[in-house]
Amino acid sequence: MLQNLNFNSCLPANVRFGLNVVKNELLREIQQARKSKVFIATDVGLVKAGLIDSITAPLTENKIETIIFSEVEPNPRAETIMRGAEVYAENACDMILAIGGGSAMDFAKAVGVVVAHTGHILDFRRGGIEITNPIPLLFAVPTTVGTGSEVTAVAIVTDHLAGRKCAVSSPNLIPKIAFIDPLLTVTLPRHIVAATAIDALVHAIEAYTSVRAHPISDGLALQAMRMITENIAESYAQPNNLEARAQIHLASTLGGMAFSLAGLGLVHSCSHPMSAIYNVPHGVANAILLPHVVEFNLISNYRKYADIARIFRRELVMEEDQTAANKLPDLIKSLITSLEIPNDFSYLNIDVTEEVMERLANDALDEQRMILANSRQVLKEDVINIYNKVLPQ
Ligand SMILES: [Fe+2]
Repeated sequence: MLQNLNFNSCLPANVRFGLNVVKNELLREIQQARKSKVFIATDVGLVKAGLIDSITAPLTENKIETIIFSEVEPNPRAETIMRGAEVYAENACDMILAIGGGSAMDFAKAVGVVVAHTGHILDFRRGGIEITNPIPLLFAVPTTVGTGSEVTAVAIVTDHLAGRKCAVSSPNLIPKIAFIDPLLTVTLPRHIVAATAIDALVHAIEAYTSVRAHPISDGLALQAMRMITENIAESYAQPNNLEARAQIHLASTLGGMAFSLAGLGLVHSCSHPMSAIYNVPHGVANAILLPHVVEFNLISNYRKYADIARIFRRELVMEEDQTAANKLPDLIKSLITSLEIPNDFSYLNIDVTEEVMERLANDALDEQRMILANSRQVLKEDVINIYNKVLPQ
């Protein structure tokens, strides 16, 4: 059964994949676009590691000026975005280059929105003022795996004062070129690889089971899941295994494309409040929630969850869909344990009062787009039940 018979499939990002693709192609693309002052959105860690210098040196040699903004924090805050937009305008930059993880890329998109419009970034959150103007030319160089932000139309912005994450979204935000260079991920610490690869896996699983899924998003999601499950262990155990890292890096871009088309679900709606309020890294929050949300969702689509279970364990082709699907939560739990990711939030030592639970549940339910795309209808009591399984009692 096709879940969604009417869809519009638009994947405008130009993906350049390969070893040394940044070194070999970035300068030429900037020159062809006739840009001369590049605003670089990145974080201080990448500057200290020397990566930014290695990328900007050939630009500088060719008379392309770079303005490096390295204050991007994890879960980028609205006020940092407004400061970045000021720096962009003061220096009369003419394009944006995001180098880093999802935070740098989301930050870059949000800066683009502010410089192309008048107003505060939070005015442009979903449901607010529409993003009508094109943002400056944006190229993305992801140095982590996971978010898929290099190919999506969404930026997640943290409203720090309200302790909430919100989405700013428009097709105008999709980077024009994503340079996917596996060499940039070999130095990633293994715990980051583990959490971000699980985030990419969640993107693929939520896109595949979304009520907005269609055959094109399904193809991307299935391939992303295959590449992640086949390579995640090796990528974690052997950081220098370039082949495994390359597969995970590309799979995370495929996952980004899949959810760009089909949307996300309840894992992401429950994980966002945990990151916004308790600063839990996005991939870790997703990993902790994933098996419990899958368990809740199973009944909505045994066939699709069975497909996923069979990607984890091929022998399940011998089983009926429902039997195979029922094995999936445990298969996911054992993957997460093998990557040394906690299986609940007890390490946070939160006192889970009724008030805390009320806020978490309401914030999760506020993520209406994800709640509505989730494969099973979600009620408040369902969200509370899921949080109860992962929060300290
Ligand atoms: Fe995610």
